[in-house]
Amino acid sequence: MKATFKFILCLTILSQSVFAQKSTFATNQSNQVFANAELQYHSLLDSANIKMKYPRSSKDGKITYAGIEEWTGGFWPGALWFMYEYTQKPEWKQAAIKWTETLESNQFNTNHHDIGFMMYNSYGNGYRLTGNEKYKSILIQSAKSLCTRYNEKVGAIKSWNDKPSLDGKDILHYPVIIDNMMNLELLFFASKITGDTMYKHIAIKHAEKTMENHVRSDFSSYHVVDYDTITGKAIHKETNQGFAHNSTWTRGQAWGVYGFTMTYRETGDKRFLNTAMKMADYFINHKNLPSDKIPNWDFNVNESGYTSPASAQSNQLNYIPRDASAAAIIASALLELSNYAGTKGPMYKKTAIQILTSLSSPSYFAKPGTNNHFLLMHCTGNANRVSEVDKPIMYGDYYFLEALLRAKK
Ligand code: GLY
Repeated sequence: MKATFKFILCLTILSQSVFAQKSTFATNQSNQVFANAELQYHSLLDSANIKMKYPRSSKDGKITYAGIEEWTGGFWPGALWFMYEYTQKPEWKQAAIKWTETLESNQFNTNHHDIGFMMYNSYGNGYRLTGNEKYKSILIQSAKSLCTRYNEKVGAIKSWNDKPSLDGKDILHYPVIIDNMMNLELLFFASKITGDTMYKHIAIKHAEKTMENHVRSDFSSYHVVDYDTITGKAIHKETNQGFAHNSTWTRGQAWGVYGFTMTYRETGDKRFLNTAMKMADYFINHKNLPSDKIPNWDFNVNESGYTSPASAQSNQLNYIPRDASAAAIIASALLELSNYAGTKGPMYKKTAIQILTSLSSPSYFAKPGTNNHFLLMHCTGNANRVSEVDKPIMYGDYYFLEALLRAKK
């Protein structure tokens, strides 16, 4: 009896330690990634400081940059804040402050929904790491600007202004995209900091509407839902960056998992947790997810039952590109989700670590001095426009660094 008990105890300890190995990202691996990231970003910082624009991707072997009005500006200072957070080196803090503060005028930007990405990833990380009071008021103004795009009848924030649908058949007057879940974190922050529940109310309404109309019954997702502002009803459900209207664009699904996980953190409402977990399950159990767990740009490319709109150009590609940025986003989301998911937590964490292990391997993580000084290779921005296909993209780097920091915690 005693011997049996000892045997079972040994087996349990052994299996736990094997599992522990598989569910942690080793400190030496992380140190190596950040050491290489320092080399890459020293060069990228030099180039950005000359251009005074935000590194975004690469084209024809050269770095491409975004202007202040583009949605990706906040990822560059955000990545610099993560470099500072990991290394604690003042040089990265100085760079992060400099690049964050270039975005100040965006606090009044009401042209699109991306102000959350722009300002929370830059000023939000800056406030979290420094407590700079000036950043707080800029973030509150940014949240006010985002709220101008909310319509109570619809119950959602308008993502883009009038935009033709991908197939050119309609003009979308109130398009809301799944990505918009990411901007809600700015609103939750504003409510906490001001005590004004208006911001949180809007965030919750938006998340509920997204659950109702973007998330399908199998927990896959539409990219774009267009609303009628008179009736408040959804009138078009389609794609812009995915393969087909009924397909699942993998970055959109990753935005959903991240956004609903964060919304659960901020509300404690189990409906959001359930949605985050089911959307995560859809992603990580998908039959078309490659064994290294870095997804294709859409789960359903070229599958029967999925037709790409005629104006989409992804058929010009003679292969199906991956999207390492979708992998980085979902890895970061799964690490947070693992804390709330009860008995499924270890499985989400293990999957996140598998993704991070792939992303840190030579197949995706660039050798210093290559890849135009970005970290990740093989991201896909917009396959339908053959734009930023199989390229480095700054938001891929941002969520990769965030995930590494979450894995360390
Ligand atoms: N938010 C736009 C994108 O994910 O490409």
